[in-house]
Amino acid sequence: MKMLKILALSALIGTGAMADDTLVLNMSHMENGLSNVQKGFLYNAPALIKGGVEEIKKSDALFHDVAATKKYLPKEKQHMSNIAFNAAKRIDTASNELIKALDKKEYSKAHQAYSEIVNACTACHAVVRGW
Ligand code: HEC
Repeated sequence: MKMLKILALSALIGTGAMADDTLVLNMSHMENGLSNVQKGFLYNAPALIKGGVEEIKKSDALFHDVAATKKYLPKEKQHMSNIAFNAAKRIDTASNELIKALDKKEYSKAHQAYSEIVNACTACHAVVRGW
């Protein structure tokens, strides 16, 4: 039974299905975080914004370097892993800026950082999807 599980698991890893599951899960956290940030701005709820940014940052850590990022790109887009990684870095930087601005109650500046996050999500998706 244990052996079967190991075999099934290595088959999953072998086909890259495992990486896909991780990616899909992380992207759903990215999406949830982002929508909480947006709601937080709309409803003037800083705690919601903060929680959303934390969720985004945590998920974005999946792309901690170029090699890790490359793994999650479709084969034919892997030569653009540098651009994708830079987008992930922009998300991290903008998230930190957002929190800093929020702590100083600079809401307009914080919202600019939020827009920067959305643009960076789109930059990676543009690579992945050939937009
Ligand atoms: C480094 C690249 C990269 C970054 C940065 C990135 N994504 Fe993604 N995202 C992907 C890939 C790869 C896919 C899967 C392929 C596709 O959907 O075209 C994906 C898919 C998605 C999906 C669809 C998932 C599904 O189940 O179909 C959502 C939603 C999503 N991303 C949200 C976000 C949000 C929100 C951000 C920014 C906070 C973000 N992503 C940043 C690479 C990235």
